[in-house]
Amino acid sequence: MSIRLAVEKLGVSYRDGRETEVLKDVSFDLRAGERLAIIGESGSGKSTLALAIAGLLPAGSRVDGNIRWPELGRQPANGRDIGFVFQDPSSSLNPVLTIGEQIAEVARAHLGMSWREAYAYAEMLLGRVRLHDPSSALKAFPHQLSGGQRQRVAIAEAIAARPGLLIADEATSALDTIVQAEIVRLIEELVAEDGMSLMFISHDIALASQIADRIAVFRHGRLIEIGEVVQIVEAPREAYTKSLLAVHMGLDTPSLLAPEAVA
Ligand SMILES: Nc1ncnc2c1ncn2[C@@H]1O[C@H](COP(=O)(O)OP(=O)(O)O)[C@@H](O)[C@H]1O
Ligand SMILES: [Mg+2]
Repeated sequence: MSIRLAVEKLGVSYRDGRETEVLKDVSFDLRAGERLAIIGESGSGKSTLALAIAGLLPAGSRVDGNIRWPELGRQPANGRDIGFVFQDPSSSLNPVLTIGEQIAEVARAHLGMSWREAYAYAEMLLGRVRLHDPSSALKAFPHQLSGGQRQRVAIAEAIAARPGLLIADEATSALDTIVQAEIVRLIEELVAEDGMSLMFISHDIALASQIADRIAVFRHGRLIEIGEVVQIVEAPREAYTKSLLAVHMGLDTPSLLAPEAVA
């Protein structure tokens, strides 16, 4: 399979008064159609990695190393080549536009559709993310939907421009367990149907192992271990990975995690 994204010796520092090095010497490839989980405790640099890949770091951040898109042969355009789903769907949804208007706008801007075509396409997408009544959902405002429904809409918007990469950053972490499982399954289906690559970012290694082909474990801004799910779950090389497995899969291993992560 071809390499869709190559991250080479990536370093990121934020500069707010002083310089804080948040990612250090991170290298990995993401193949076409591959599902990679990015795992680590809060503060380990997962969101920073996602923002660096999407070109969304705050102005003034220092970036070392390379992020390459071999298939694309150019830098990716935001909202078109990369779809982003955040933990809080409100951060990607506009409260004063209807669902139909905002999804249609993405299709119009990136796929060159007329309003009429884009609106019909939006309705089709709302069906794909399994909203029960897509034609009413088109006319609804975000606040009229439940949290789980809003996250489905955010996913529809993220895939609307047919991106090659979908980044889900703790996209199911705020949802209750049943809805979380449904959304994980939905993301899995959409990624397979559209041939997208997936970066599934989560603090929960058990959840991530249900959707990923490979798992990358981050600690203090470094990629400490990467491998196939079976290898990571059944034969982790790092004691830290064993600690994460112990917490999320109920295994009995001494913990290296920060105390708040276990609570
Ligand atoms: N805009 C920012 N300015 C300065 N420091 C930041 C900024 N965003 C995140 N950080 C810091 O970078 C580190 C990594 O954060 P983040 O990438 O959000 O980790 P994660 O997503 O794994 O929780 C944390 O110590 C966090 O406080
Ligand atoms: Mg984060």
